Amino acid sequence: MARFIQQLQEHTHDIHQELIAGLTAEQASASPKYLYDALGSKLFEAICELPEYYPTRTEAQIFATHAEEIARSTGRGTTLIDLGAGNCAKAARLFPFLQPSQYVPVDISVTFLRDAVDRLQQQFPQIDMVGVGMDFSSALTLPDEVNAGNRLFFYPGSSIGNFTPEESLTFLKRVHAACVKNGKAEGGLLIGVDLVKDKAVLDAAYDDALGVTAAFNLNLLRHLNRLLEADFDLREWRHRGFFNGESSRIEMHLEAASDQLVRWQGGERRFARGERIHTENSYKYTRQDFVKLLQVAGFRNVAVWTDPQEWFLVCHAHAA
Ligand code: AVJ
Repeated sequence: MARFIQQLQEHTHDIHQELIAGLTAEQASASPKYLYDALGSKLFEAICELPEYYPTRTEAQIFATHAEEIARSTGRGTTLIDLGAGNCAKAARLFPFLQPSQYVPVDISVTFLRDAVDRLQQQFPQIDMVGVGMDFSSALTLPDEVNAGNRLFFYPGSSIGNFTPEESLTFLKRVHAACVKNGKAEGGLLIGVDLVKDKAVLDAAYDDALGVTAAFNLNLLRHLNRLLEADFDLREWRHRGFFNGESSRIEMHLEAASDQLVRWQGGERRFARGERIHTENSYKYTRQDFVKLLQVAGFRNVAVWTDPQEWFLVCHAHAA
């Protein structure tokens, strides 16, 4: 039987405070985590099917092509810690190659993990499975049920792109620290990162012809309407998604299509036509810069795999 552990969850009061602080700032913003309510998660799955959105399928192709070699690099019998596991599908495809002794899917809430992990446990009874509900972006203290030795952290999908490079460094240092047992570093990190490429390709990936990414972005306002009892009128907002080459990142914004007043529980804000709410950054790296970042975080001996077009990068970084 799989085990499940839920760490402390954020209080609604703090969620409200954080959201309102973002919405009332001179340059309004909302954290990309609010893109993922139930519908938002489905829309993201739809994005992954779009011809323009290359990251998911390119990464899958790299894993499928190089699984043997990746497993030789990571070794077998690891404690596989899957950060942002969701439906656990990416890790499950690697089980036959990596043959982990323990599988630890981590997501913000265990309720997202339960069904998928119970099913996987039946399929792979030899792997000890511990589902953990926690916000790993703020801290990486894993419960005692997670084996301390030979940890392989798995962070696919270029989710690291949501952090600024500075935040990424802090995060990678934390992952490295979580690989240390009795003062000795072992194990490592298997991570997927999106690479800098032609602006037209990047722009299309985040502003697709079908408008799925637009719906995904606009859905954040529906989510805010529910969380804050706000009255955002979705018809009065436009999706903007584009590559900012200077910062080497995709930016997503919601842009007011008219002058308007938005109210919520205990507050309000006027938005002028053209004013924006910044909803997401997705940083793109060069291979050299990302390997460097891993090294600065304390990792050694970085093995890399990429696709023929060099659009996406998979790295295995050894903790020691
Ligand atoms: C889930 C953060 C990796 O940045 O490509 C997709 C989210 N946003 N389309 C990304 C996203 C718009 C995605 N990550």
